Amino acid sequence: MASDIDNKDSAYNARVQQQIDQFIDQPIHDLPEIFHIWSHNYIRPGIADVFGVESINDVYKGAVREASKQFGDGCRILSVGCGDGNVEIQLALSLIEAGFTRFRIEAVDLSPVLIERFREQLHANKLEGYILPQIADLNKRTPSEKYNVIMANHSLHHIVELEGIFDFIFESLTDDGIFATCDMIGRNGHMRWPESEAVLQTIWPLLSDRQRFHHQLLRHDRERFVDHDCSTEGFEGIRAQDILYLILNRFFPYKFFGYGGFMDVLTDRGYGPGFDQNNQWDVEFIGAMSKLNEMMLDSGMLKPTTMIAYFTKQERAPVHFRNRTARSSVRIPFEKPDWIFE
Ligand SMILES: C[S@@+](CC[C@H](N)C(=O)[O-])C[C@H]1O[C@@H](n2cnc3c(N)ncnc32)[C@H](O)[C@@H]1O
Repeated sequence: MASDIDNKDSAYNARVQQQIDQFIDQPIHDLPEIFHIWSHNYIRPGIADVFGVESINDVYKGAVREASKQFGDGCRILSVGCGDGNVEIQLALSLIEAGFTRFRIEAVDLSPVLIERFREQLHANKLEGYILPQIADLNKRTPSEKYNVIMANHSLHHIVELEGIFDFIFESLTDDGIFATCDMIGRNGHMRWPESEAVLQTIWPLLSDRQRFHHQLLRHDRERFVDHDCSTEGFEGIRAQDILYLILNRFFPYKFFGYGGFMDVLTDRGYGPGFDQNNQWDVEFIGAMSKLNEMMLDSGMLKPTTMIAYFTKQERAPVHFRNRTARSSVRIPFEKPDWIFE
C-alpha cells in the first residue's frame, strides 16, 4: 500500500512534470501589443523613477553595477528559475558592452528542455565563459556558495517552498549583496482580489464581444468576467500572494516599484489580444482604465500585482514610486476593504 509520503512525492512529481511541459511549447516572452502600450505609459515611468533606467535588463544591470561598486569589483550572480536564459544572455551581453567582464552568472532551472535551449543560445552568443546553466529544483536546493547578486525573473511565483527559497537566497547572498527580482505578487493562481474583480465586473458590459474572448482558454465570457485560477496545473502563481510578505520578513526593501491590479487582466495573454493597438477606442479605453488603476493604487484601494525590486540584508535608504512602499503593497489575504459588498 502506498504511504502518505509516496503519495505526496508522486503528486509533487506530477506537478513538476506539468511545470516542465508548460513551457515546452508555450512561448515565455510574447505579450499582446496592447500590453506594450500600457507598459510604455504606466510601467516604464515607475521603473525610471525608482531605478533611473527604462528596461528590466537595465534594472538587473544596475544591481550588478551597485553590487560590484560601479564595476570596480568582480561579481558573482545567481539566477533562480532562469528558463531559456533570454534575460541572463541579454544581461551578460549588456555588461560586456559596458566594458565589464569580471562577472559570472550561474543559472538554475527545473526544466531540462529550457536549459538545453539556454545552452544553444549561449553557444550562439559565445558566452560559455560567462554563464553556467544548471538543472536543479529550487524547492530542494541548499546553500553552498555566496553571490553578490541573486536574481529571480518571474520565477518566484512558481515556487511552493517559498520560505526555504528565501532562506536559501538570504544565506547565499553576500552581506552587501542585492536580491533583484521582477515577479507577480497578486492573489494565488493570478486570481483577482475582490476589489479588482469588482472593477472588472463593473466595466465588463462596456467591452465588445471581441474583447470578452479569452485567447488562452478559448472561452467567450459574454455575461461577466470569469476569474481563472492558474494554479490548478503545474505551479503557476501557486503562492504569489505570500511572496512579498515573506521577503519582507527576511530582507530590507531597498528599491521598490509595484504596479498592476485589474489592468493585467485587460492587457495580458488572455483578453489582451482582443484590444487593437490601431483602434482609437481601444487605446483610449485602455488609457482611461490605466489611469483609474493608478489612482486606486495610489489611494491604497488596490494593491500591486507585480513588483520590480531590490532587497538587501542590511538596511539602506528605501526608494519607492510615489507613496507605494514595499510594506504598503502587501495584500493581507483575510482583510477585505469596507467598500466591497457581498
Ligand atoms: C515564467 S518562467 C520564467 C523564466 C525566466 N526567468 C524568464 O524570465 O524568462 C518560470 C521558470 O521557473 C522555473 N521553475 C519553476 N519551478 C522551479 C523550481 N522549483 N526550481 C527551478 N526552477 C523552477 C520554470 O521551469 C520556468 O522556467
